[in-house]
Amino acid sequence: MDPPAPKAPSGAPRRAALRRTYDAVTDEYVRRIYNELDGKPLDRELLDRFAGCVREIGPVGDVGCGPGQVARYLHDRGVTVVGIDLSDAMVAAARRLNPGIEFKQGDMTALDLPDGTWAGIVCFYSIIHIPRDQVVAVLLELCRLLRPGGLLLLTFHIGAEVVPDEMAGYLTVAGFEIEEIIERDPYPEVEHPSRRTYIFARRPVASTAGA
Ligand SMILES: C[S@@+](CC[C@H](N)C(=O)[O-])C[C@H]1O[C@@H](n2cnc3c(N)ncnc32)[C@H](O)[C@@H]1O
Repeated sequence: MDPPAPKAPSGAPRRAALRRTYDAVTDEYVRRIYNELDGKPLDRELLDRFAGCVREIGPVGDVGCGPGQVARYLHDRGVTVVGIDLSDAMVAAARRLNPGIEFKQGDMTALDLPDGTWAGIVCFYSIIHIPRDQVVAVLLELCRLLRPGGLLLLTFHIGAEVVPDEMAGYLTVAGFEIEEIIERDPYPEVEHPSRRTYIFARRPVASTAGA
């Protein structure tokens, strides 16, 4: 009889492996991605819209911030932003590339921050690293960290693994109100050739998240 197939790591070992992977690719990621927003007009437009909604209200978290290009874009538009990433190397690169912006190492599955810390959260291409059965728990946590009425802008690649309706369902279960779902084709020669989704979702004003 064959021995049982080894199980894929989960929980803390899985996150430790992911952290090492992103530590190892940070320099290459910076080289390829850091200036990518220059060639992505829709992303800039959506971030401008997000900035306009939160700038006067309070600080913003960039969760899974990588080297901090999104945090930087928001900062340059007058938003107070803090970037959080699992990878120490990404956090170090973000600090080096973006003096004047706060970056911290942290895990979005266990953010030890008070309820209502942020007026807004951007979460660009990092939710995909959360195993499906934990996505609602992470979104509940993000909802708790938003002030009532706070705005989330979540992005991900559309693929066999995740589709917009599925993510919208998770957001709704976690207590968010979906404001808008936007999809676009990839910008040729600018980015990885996958379709993208952007979801604006709001913590309801009368929300009891975190209560
Ligand atoms: C594809 S990169 C996206 C980085 C950046 N947001 C961007 O748009 O270029 C995914 C990032 O999510 C981070 N990440 C993955 N799991 C995380 C977790 N549990 N908590 C915080 N960050 C996480 C990774 O370290 C990595 O920097």
